[in-house]
Amino acid sequence: MVVADGTRGDSVTGGPRIIFLGPPGAGKGTQAARLAEHLRIPKISTGDMLRDAIAAATPLGKQAGPIMEKGGLVPDDLLNGIVGERLRMADCADGYILDGYPRTLPQAEGFEHMALGDVTPEVYVLNIEVPRAELLRRLSGRRWCPTCQATYHIHNDPAKQAGVCDNDGTKLIQREDDKETAVQRRLQEYDGRTAPLIDYYRSRSLFHAVDGYRPQEQVFAELLDIVTHRPAAARGSEGRA
Ligand code: AP5
Repeated sequence: MVVADGTRGDSVTGGPRIIFLGPPGAGKGTQAARLAEHLRIPKISTGDMLRDAIAAATPLGKQAGPIMEKGGLVPDDLLNGIVGERLRMADCADGYILDGYPRTLPQAEGFEHMALGDVTPEVYVLNIEVPRAELLRRLSGRRWCPTCQATYHIHNDPAKQAGVCDNDGTKLIQREDDKETAVQRRLQEYDGRTAPLIDYYRSRSLFHAVDGYRPQEQVFAELLDIVTHRPAAARGSEGRA
């Protein structure tokens, strides 16, 4: 229900609601962008929102910047605040994709409250699985456009002209947190604080584990099949049936 101020009321009218889970470098952002474009629903990436805040030097950006640079997690209350606000925007009424949130148990609990009623049983949780060595290879080769946030990989997904964004010609850079020390910390944070969400969601959402160690096209085809043809996935299944 869209209300006069451009936000929506307390009901979600339809369309898939999707959470991407997975370690850093699994391909969440890559696949979330493709799926969002295909389904015409917004992709809400907390990493992108925080990087925008850092670029704009907002109070949020000033707080998040030093934490992100070292590979730590930004405090839960800040994330619950910005996502709660974003989900109330009118464009989320017909579905949305969350990329990088929830990332801790307090965030998962916060999400259930901000959705104004427990919608978790109807949410697709897509857990992208990739071996650790491949994650390290992907993160070290990732390049990023600071203008439009497009992501490339120097070997797997290179820009048409080396080092320059296809969309806007901006010089591509390596994210500060893709450098080795920060990557190790991000993986530790994932193991300690995000991985427990797999068991949390396995039994209470439309949970699907997806093999992300395949060409992007194949991963995308499976994700699309899940969210368009498997609405009645059995609770607690791995989604592989
Ligand atoms: P965020 O930006 O969310 O980073 P992340 O979760 O660590 O995920 P990544 O962006 O590194 O990886 P991805 O899975 O999206 O992979 P991608 O598609 O780019 O968060 C950054 C930081 O922000 C956090 O560390 C934290 O500080 C803070 N933050 C954000 N959200 C927060 C929250 N909720 N709570 C607290 N703090 C938060 O792909 C990676 C590379 O692999 C690319 O180069 C790509 O081209 C390539 N690739 C993709 N798919 C394939 C494939 N199938 N085969 C080969 N290569 C592939």
